Amino acid sequence: MFDSGFGGLTVARATIDLLPEENLIYLGDNARYPYGAKPLDEVLRFSLEIADYLVNERKVKALVIACNTATAAALAALRTMYDIPILGVIEPGLRALVQASVRNRVGVIGTIGTVESGEYERAMANIEPNIFLRSYACPGFVEFVERGELVGRQVMVLAERLLAPVLADEIDTLLLGCTHYPYLARVISDVVGRSTVLVSSADETAFALMRLLSELDLQNGGNGARGHVEFVSSGDIVSFTRVGSRLLGPELGNAKPWTPPSQATETDS
Ligand code: DGL
Repeated sequence: MFDSGFGGLTVARATIDLLPEENLIYLGDNARYPYGAKPLDEVLRFSLEIADYLVNERKVKALVIACNTATAAALAALRTMYDIPILGVIEPGLRALVQASVRNRVGVIGTIGTVESGEYERAMANIEPNIFLRSYACPGFVEFVERGELVGRQVMVLAERLLAPVLADEIDTLLLGCTHYPYLARVISDVVGRSTVLVSSADETAFALMRLLSELDLQNGGNGARGHVEFVSSGDIVSFTRVGSRLLGPELGNAKPWTPPSQATETDS
C-alpha cells in the first residue's frame, strides 16, 4: 500500500482492523509530497517507482494505491503492467458515497490533481449517472496533516474558505476524496455542518480488498496469528515515526527508510 505521505495511514488503519492476519507493507513517499499539486505525469513516475519496489523487490501479492491523486494518475497504467490485483481508492469511495446520499446531491473534496483529472466524474458515470456530483479542490489541507496540525485557527480559516462552495451547492453527502482528509474530519464537519454526511474511502477500500483477496483465494492466515506490519518512508524517519504513530496508532513503531531510485541516482552523481 502506498501514499504520498501520511494520508494512506487511514486506509492502513482500516485494513489492519479488518484483515489483521494479513502482512502489510505501507510506503509513505513523504520526501516528495504533496502529490496533489504536481502534474499527473510526475505522480505517475513516482507511482511506477514505488510499485516496482513493492511488487518486484518486496513481492507483494496485491497492491493498494492508498492515494486518490496517485489512483487518478497511475491505476490504469499499473494494472496493465503487473499481473497482481491492484486497487485504487476512487471507486470504493464513490460506492460508499452513493450509498450514503439521501438527496442525491453529492460532493467530493480532493487535491488539485485529483479534481482536475476528472476521474471522479468518469467513474461516477459508470456507477450512478443520475446523481448531482461536484468536486472541489482543497489545496493546503494536506500540508496541515503532514505537519500533524489537525485542529486550530489556521486550518479552520482555510477550511471555511475552501468549503464555502460545498455549502452553497447544498451538498448532502461529502466524500473525503484525499486519504489525508479524514484526519481533518472534525474541522471539515464543523464548517459544513452536522447535516452534511462525511464519507471516507478508507473502510470501503479495506472491504474491497477483503473481497478481492477472497475471490482470488489469496487471503492469509486462518490460525488467528496477527500479520506482520511494516512501515517505510522516503522522508525523515524520526519525524515519520513520531507523526505517523500519533495518526495510526502503536503499530507504527519501526519505520524504515526507502530512497526512490531517481533520488538515489541524483545524490550519487
Ligand atoms: N493523500 C493523497 C490523496 O489521496 C495525496 C495528498 C498529496 O500528497 O497531495 O490524494
